[in-house]
Amino acid sequence: MSLIFCSRTDDPDEWRGAFAAIMPDLEFRVWPDVGDEGAVEIALVWDPMQEQLLRFANLRLIASLGAGVDHLLAATTLPPGVPMTRIVDANLTQGMREYVLLQTLYCHRQAPAYLAQQRAADWRPLDQPFCQQRRVGIMGLGVLGAAAAEALQDIGFLVTGWSRRQKELPGVECFAGLSRLDEFLAASEILVCLLPLTPDTEGIINRRTLGALPPGACLINGARGGLVVEADLIAALESGRLGHAVLDVTREEPLPADDALWRAPNITITPHIASITNARSGAELVADNIRRVRAGEALLHTVDPDAGY
Ligand code: NAP
Ligand code: GLV
Repeated sequence: MSLIFCSRTDDPDEWRGAFAAIMPDLEFRVWPDVGDEGAVEIALVWDPMQEQLLRFANLRLIASLGAGVDHLLAATTLPPGVPMTRIVDANLTQGMREYVLLQTLYCHRQAPAYLAQQRAADWRPLDQPFCQQRRVGIMGLGVLGAAAAEALQDIGFLVTGWSRRQKELPGVECFAGLSRLDEFLAASEILVCLLPLTPDTEGIINRRTLGALPPGACLINGARGGLVVEADLIAALESGRLGHAVLDVTREEPLPADDALWRAPNITITPHIASITNARSGAELVADNIRRVRAGEALLHTVDPDAGY
């Protein structure tokens, strides 16, 4: 059995080393050095090229190198019927928990305003609400959204959440479905976006939904750039309707130097680092699923291609 590693951004040597330590009998191949195509049964991939995976007639598992699978479902022709899995890992979850806490506190404690005051040598305390008065809304209550909700609650924020199906999370007011979206947005002074990118969520942060937030609200997008209509976001920042935006992700990555987002007012941009997959713990997860494939057992963390995540 061999595994083909297909990624233009992840380091194959890190993953090769991680698999060598835990699954030495697995032949680890790196695209384009595919060897015997018929022997490839596992594809470990990030953002594969259009028809890259169709070469492997005996694929039994397509494993995403990350938590998201939009790179697989939206842009690639996939061999039919091959199960797909994604990364659900304590290290990845912890990374996102930290990022959401960092950026929520950054907005809540008015760090952008103090940075601007510092640049103007302006020593001036601002009114500061307690976090017990601050309403943080989390779009997407899956693995990462639920972990972020718990961490924010632990330090005292008032947390609400929104998902496709109704959720029950201790202490979190949960809304579900498009019919409750505006109600949820109206209660989100800080909106944290942790939705997958699917046909239903593409462009969900737009002029209308930004307008449904409380005036001066902040947006934190730790999920995918395609969720946001970037021209609408820039307009909302320029008008002051939105107080601040933190973007870890953008439609085009890396964000081109001449993109208007870099120059929008009240924006913080990080280069898709909110939480990245750790090769060592990621390889353990994928190896567990490879053992399951070999044993004919049910896989962990599978993707529902119809739902898109
Ligand atoms: P997940 O466990 O699959 O959770 C997805 C959540 O979104 C679920 O609560 C789901 O609702 C909800 N959802 C999906 N479609 C919806 C819709 N149309 N309307 C309302 N809610 C919807 O995913 P996850 O592991 O938390 O990851 C979320 C995303 O984070 C990933 O897809 C990836 O794009 C992104 N991510 C980014 C980074 C980074 O470094 N920036 C790192 C890791 C992941 P249900 O609960 O009802 O199914
Ligand atoms: C990163 O963006 C991931 O999907 O894991």
